[in-house]
Amino acid sequence: MKKISPLFIPLIIFSALLSSCSQPAGSITTEEDYRRMGDSIIKATFDTLRNALTSAMQNKGVAGAVQYCNENAYPLTATLASEKISIKRVAERYRNPQNAPDSMDAIQWDIFASAKKSGDSLRSAIVTEKNIIRYYKPIFLQPTCTACHGASGRDIPQAAATIIDSLYPHDKAKDFAVGDLRGMWKISFRQ
Ligand code: HEC
Repeated sequence: MKKISPLFIPLIIFSALLSSCSQPAGSITTEEDYRRMGDSIIKATFDTLRNALTSAMQNKGVAGAVQYCNENAYPLTATLASEKISIKRVAERYRNPQNAPDSMDAIQWDIFASAKKSGDSLRSAIVTEKNIIRYYKPIFLQPTCTACHGASGRDIPQAAATIIDSLYPHDKAKDFAVGDLRGMWKISFRQ
C-alpha cells in the first residue's frame, strides 16, 4: 500500500472550504474566503512543485530537472485544480509562452511591478470579472531558483542552459536576482 500523500491534507481542508461556498443562493463567500482558499491552494501547490523539483535536482542534476519541469510543471500545478478552480503561474518574462499574461493579468502585473519598484510591500489581490474571481499573489525569486532563472553563465550550469535553450527557444526567464518579482500565482474561481 502506498502511503497517503501529505498533499491530501490541504486538499481535504479546502474541499471543506469549497463545499461551504457551493451552497445554494443566499450563502455569502467573502473576499476573505477567497483569499484563504487561494492561499491554501497556493501553499499546497508550491509545496508539491518544490518537493518534485528538489528531488529531480538531486536525482537528475539541474539539466535533468529542467527536462522534468518541462514535462511536469503543468500537470503538477494543476494537481489541485477542479471544474471550478484553475491554478496557473504567469510571468511577464516567461519561459513557457503558455504562461504569458492575458490583458487582465497584465494590469495586475503592472500594479505589483510598480509597488516593488517603489519599495512598497506587495499585497495579494482579488479581481472580479463577470462570474470569475481571480486571486493573484506575487512570486519572488529565491536562492534555490537561481540554478534555472539566475544569471546566465554564472548561476545556470552550462548543461542546463543548453537544455533550456533547446526546449524554450524564446526563453525570457533568465537573469533574475534573488528577491526579484519572478511571476504571480493566478487562482481563478468560477462561480
Ligand atoms: C531545475 C530548473 C528550475 C528551477 C530550480 C526552478 N525553475 Fe521555474 N521553471 C523552470 C522551467 C523549465 C519552467 C517552464 C515550465 C513549463 O514549461 O511550464 C519554469 C517556469 C517557472 C514559472 C512559470 C512562468 C514561466 O516563466 O513560464 C515560474 C513563476 C517559475 N518557474 C518560478 C520559479 C521559482 C520561484 C523557483 C524557485 C523556488 C523556480 N522557478 C525554480 C525551471 C526551473
